[in-house]
Amino acid sequence: MRRAKRILVTGGAGFLGSFLCERLLAEGHEVACVDNFFTGSRQNVAHLIANPSFEIIRHDVTFPLYVEVDEIYNLACPASPIHYQHDPVQTTKTSVHGAINMLGLAKRVGARILQASTSEVYGSPEVHPQPEGYWGRVNPIGPRSCYDEGKRCAETLFFDYWRQHALRIKVARIFNTYGPRMRPDDGRVVSNFIVQALQNQPITIYGTGEQTRSFCYVDDLIDGLVGLMRTPDDVTGPMNLGNPVEFTMRELASLVLELTGSRSDLRFLPLPIDDPTQRQPDIDYAKTVLGWQPRTRLRDGLARTIDYFENVLGSGSKLAAQ
Ligand SMILES: NC(=O)c1ccc[n+]([C@@H]2O[C@H](COP(=O)([O-])OP(=O)(O)OC[C@H]3O[C@@H](n4cnc5c(N)ncnc54)[C@H](O)[C@@H]3O)[C@@H](O)[C@H]2O)c1
Repeated sequence: MRRAKRILVTGGAGFLGSFLCERLLAEGHEVACVDNFFTGSRQNVAHLIANPSFEIIRHDVTFPLYVEVDEIYNLACPASPIHYQHDPVQTTKTSVHGAINMLGLAKRVGARILQASTSEVYGSPEVHPQPEGYWGRVNPIGPRSCYDEGKRCAETLFFDYWRQHALRIKVARIFNTYGPRMRPDDGRVVSNFIVQALQNQPITIYGTGEQTRSFCYVDDLIDGLVGLMRTPDDVTGPMNLGNPVEFTMRELASLVLELTGSRSDLRFLPLPIDDPTQRQPDIDYAKTVLGWQPRTRLRDGLARTIDYFENVLGSGSKLAAQ
């Protein structure tokens, strides 16, 4: 049997963090969830609070933290453009100072540390699909740069702590992930489409809708993160975690319309600045090292996510709006 560990999850009250806390508790570990509740909420972890192995600490990772832990999952950072562009200086600080503080903690207590990096480090890629060896094409001075460059700098810090201090690091590059507990107002495409469809509002598509994205269901992503943390010390990543199956925005919209039974029509708006037209992970490395690949079909994951949003928006919202 695996030994129970003390595990710190920063950003633990967010979308991915709350599922990660849930998984680690279910495996018998003690979990400390650190969050400043900028985009996360107590509601996301309300069902865990009665568990004596679970603890919530309100804390901003841009300040140092002293706790005794065996492992750290560093997820703290707003992930949706609406939220990370709200206070771009704080976004960069969260990625960079947050990484420095959590790496410092890992060094002090000898913990393993995993960074939730992002496919955004590839920027608007010229290589398709993107393997981990691709260095990316990122605008350093645009409105998305606070997130993209912040995450790139965090990766640099992780690898410098590994080279300089022999820290045990893991870097996961997460591609678009969706599921219950995404915020209805965060402007990410899956939650946008579902909320618009459930309210019979026009579905807003940026550009022609021919740009593609790949969507990974949250349970699959959590399998990948936990699997990466458990790899031997010589596996540092970066490792792409995401779903290589691509869909166009039009295809996603029509699947959401079908599953919600909505009468919404499609509204086309100009493409935002620096919005990549194509993004797809090459997951050969994760397949080889972890034996990991996403299992949930988009149709099934969307159905579970739609159920969640129906509850959040009020059980009668779909029918009431018709
Ligand atoms: N969901 C995705 O598709 C996706 C894709 C790529 C990378 N990621 C990364 O995964 C992580 C989690 O993303 P998510 O989708 O759950 O987003 P989220 O916004 O739901 O979660 C982020 C959490 O971090 C907290 N937070 C933000 N700034 C903080 C600070 N300074 N101190 C402490 N807590 C802070 C927020 O309150 C929130 O609970 C992020 O680092 C994100 O960059 C997510």
